[in-house]
Amino acid sequence: MEDTRGRITREGIRIYEDSDFAGMQRAGEVAAEILDMVVPLVQPGVATSVIDDFIREEIARRGVVSATIGYKGYQHASCISVNHVVCHGIPGAKVLADGDILNIDVTVIVDGWFGDTSRMYAAGNLGRKAERLIDVTHEALMRGIAAVKPGNTFGDIGFAIQAYVEANRMSVVRDFCGHGLGRVFHAPPNVLHYGRPGSGAVLEEGMFFTIEPMVNLGRPETKVLADDWTAVTRDKSLSAQFEHSVGVTATGCQIFTLSPAGKFHPTWG
Ligand code: MF3
Ligand code: CO
Ligand code: CO
Repeated sequence: MEDTRGRITREGIRIYEDSDFAGMQRAGEVAAEILDMVVPLVQPGVATSVIDDFIREEIARRGVVSATIGYKGYQHASCISVNHVVCHGIPGAKVLADGDILNIDVTVIVDGWFGDTSRMYAAGNLGRKAERLIDVTHEALMRGIAAVKPGNTFGDIGFAIQAYVEANRMSVVRDFCGHGLGRVFHAPPNVLHYGRPGSGAVLEEGMFFTIEPMVNLGRPETKVLADDWTAVTRDKSLSAQFEHSVGVTATGCQIFTLSPAGKFHPTWG
C-alpha cells in the first residue's frame, strides 16, 4: 500500500501529521484490547492454536483486519512464542504446560493504520527465573520508551535497553529489531535494542515505530527453524519479549498500545 503522508527524512523515516496520531491510537488500542481478552485462555492444557483462533475471531468480530494473515505467506492471526522461542512462533498443536511462559504478538489494521503489540503470559505457576526474565524485559522496554523524545537518537533507545538488560546479566537479541510503522507494517528505521548513546538517526516529532526487545536468560544468538519462521535461542535458554507501538510527540512519546485493562505487565493477577 502506498503511503504519501507527511514527509520523509534523509534516513527514509516518514514524519506523520498531528492528525495521524488518532488513527494509530485506535489501531493500537484494538490490538491491546485483544491481548487483554486472551488472558483467561492462557492455561496449562490449552493448545496455542486455540488462542490464535480466539484472536482471529476477535479481529473479525470487530470488523478490522489481521496484518499477519497473508504477510509473506504467514497464515495466523498471532505469533505465539513459548519458552525458548524468541519470536515468530507459529500457533499450532503445541499444548501449554504448567510453568510455560509465552509471548503473544498481534498486529491489526484499523482504517489503514497498523497497531502492533506483544506481551508475556504465563501458564500456571511461574518459576522465579522466568519471572525475573519477564520483569527485566518489561522494564527494558519501558526504559527504551523513556528515551523517546525529539533530539534523542535511536542509539539512545538501544543503549537504555541494553544497559539495563546487561546490568541484570541477561542478553539482548541482535537478530531481530523494532521497526517504523504507520500505514505500512514494516518501514524504516530498524529500531535496534542495543547501541551507543548519540548514534543513529535523530528522533523527530511525528515518527511512528515499535520498540520490541527480546531478552534471553542465556546467550543472545538465535536460529530460525526449518519452518522458516520460528526463531529460538541457540543455547535453548528462556527468552521474553514485550512490544509497544509509539509516536514521537513534542515532549516525549505517545504509547498507542497501552492495555485498556492495565494488563500489559503483569498480564496475570
Ligand atoms: N508482529 C511482528 C512484529 O512485531 C511481526 C510478525 S510477522 C508474522 O514485527 F508474519 F510473523 F506474523
Ligand atoms: Co513489531
Ligand atoms: Co509485533
